[in-house]
Amino acid sequence: MTDNTRKITPERLRSRWWFDNPEHPGTTAICIERYMNYGITLDELTSGKPIIGVCQSGSDLTPCNRHHIELVKRVKDGIRAAGGVPFEFPMHPIHENARRPTAALDRNLAYLGLVEVLHGYPLDGVVFTTGCDKTTPAALMAGATVNIPAIVLSGGPMLNGWRDNERVGSGTIIWELRKRLAAGDIDYDEFLARGADSAPSVGHCNTMGTASTMNSMAEVLGMSLPGSAMIPAPYKERPIVAYQTGERIVEMVWEDLRPLDILTREAFENAIVVCSALGGSTNAPIHINAIARHSGIELTNDDWQALGHEIPLLANVMPAGAYLSEEFHRAGGVPAVVHELLAAGRLNGDSLTVNGQTLAANVQGCETRDTEVIRRYDNPLVEHAGFLNLKGNLFDSALMKTSVISREFRRRFLEDSEDPNAFESKVVVFDGSEDYHARIDDPELGIDERTLLVMRGAGPVGHPGGAEVVNMQPPEALIRRGIESLPCLGDGRQSGTSGSPSILNASPEAATGGGLALLEDGDRLRIDLTSGEVRLLVDDSEIMARRERLEKAGGYRYPDHQTPWQEIQRGLVEPLDRGMILTTATQYRDVARRSPPR
Ligand code: FES
Ligand code: MG
Repeated sequence: MTDNTRKITPERLRSRWWFDNPEHPGTTAICIERYMNYGITLDELTSGKPIIGVCQSGSDLTPCNRHHIELVKRVKDGIRAAGGVPFEFPMHPIHENARRPTAALDRNLAYLGLVEVLHGYPLDGVVFTTGCDKTTPAALMAGATVNIPAIVLSGGPMLNGWRDNERVGSGTIIWELRKRLAAGDIDYDEFLARGADSAPSVGHCNTMGTASTMNSMAEVLGMSLPGSAMIPAPYKERPIVAYQTGERIVEMVWEDLRPLDILTREAFENAIVVCSALGGSTNAPIHINAIARHSGIELTNDDWQALGHEIPLLANVMPAGAYLSEEFHRAGGVPAVVHELLAAGRLNGDSLTVNGQTLAANVQGCETRDTEVIRRYDNPLVEHAGFLNLKGNLFDSALMKTSVISREFRRRFLEDSEDPNAFESKVVVFDGSEDYHARIDDPELGIDERTLLVMRGAGPVGHPGGAEVVNMQPPEALIRRGIESLPCLGDGRQSGTSGSPSILNASPEAATGGGLALLEDGDRLRIDLTSGEVRLLVDDSEIMARRERLEKAGGYRYPDHQTPWQEIQRGLVEPLDRGMILTTATQYRDVARRSPPR
């Protein structure tokens, strides 16, 4: 399937510039002697074998990816068996749960580091090891920018968590336990013990959070071997696919099969459709739009609504469903979902993938093996599972994951309003998560079961990287009365493991002039899920007056930078709907070909 006219010969390998370059004998000499000093032979460096980077994302700081420390041994075995030479190198660590102020701050930092490594070192191809949320988009963004042959290897999800004969999903359980702790049902020790049940083995989150979503997206985009994304980390198939990934990257070098051959508009459209059917993370549009823009494709949140909203929910996996990644894998994983959507005419089957075959060819015969876990297209869990892209007089874009709107929520907000798809609420506004935690239980705020909570100052500039704080828990007093959720709106993000139907990623954010900065406690908002409009119900003249007052006061205030990178990123970062990428970075697409080493 790949274009054979582009075949690479040993003399044309990129690494020759470093290892066999009579025009720069000094460079060649210092590279060869130094890479030999730990045992690499002269023959390995100079006899025309592809040099393959193995990007190691696992470390003691990144537990979700730590399994790759073992897995890359099999990747390297595969590379050697296929005639290549592996060079392992570290990726900047990104761990979702521990990194402060947020792991999202590091996606662009890891991306920058990878671009420099892939561009500046003697690499003919690269295997990206991925897992925890931001490691996958950082790798794919760098792959698109540098555009040397590249393949993504997920470390795989953890085994299912269990307690009292019930599945316990990582991340998702924490949101539930927090409410039980607030309600006084459990104490701190039980909270910690129950949380730990959700993570019983190596691997990334076993729910359809951002990690499972993004690794599934890598497979759907065509950047991972078919069927590989969701093999649980401890299963024997995992090191087997690691070996096959190593073999395949060497072939890809000879075929000159590069990311930008694979990352086409059709591939991104497929990603939107499959993400919807998976009940994927609300972080996916940010990352997929970012990868697309680094691939030269303008993908917007309007595309997400147009292509994704109507897609039914097929994956019965938490947080939108009931099962976890072991059942999902056993039922056929991503290929079974793709198979179902292809049969329904929803995907571009001709998209090329890293194995040189099309998406359609890769999933032939991959029917769902368990129709309870991976549903048939005509018997879905939810009819319209994709995101709505909401707009109005406060922001240009904000997403809502409609697949997780609960019956109880519908009853409380939608059923007794005139229009069963619209509601009005008064708002209470918080400026960042510290403000929320300090004041949420203050009875003076008058929060009741019809209040809409607003979080601002949580976008990529207000809270460097954008905080996952929009899904706010109601005050304890309401939880004790059985009100477990309130509608939330904000310019920050929300964890992919949360099942809350928040309106999030509002762009532009308050810190860069977005309208959320103008909201005041007690304002009323109208949210219309049919027209997709969120409207502040005050006169335009009042909105203008508030804007003038804010500008006179010097604009929306946010905390100072804590580190140099926070300052640099704040100066360059684009809004969440534009992928939160660094604004000048897209100019460097295909840099390995456009700008050879010197
Ligand atoms: Fe790392 Fe979920 S916290 S994958
Ligand atoms: Mg997260």
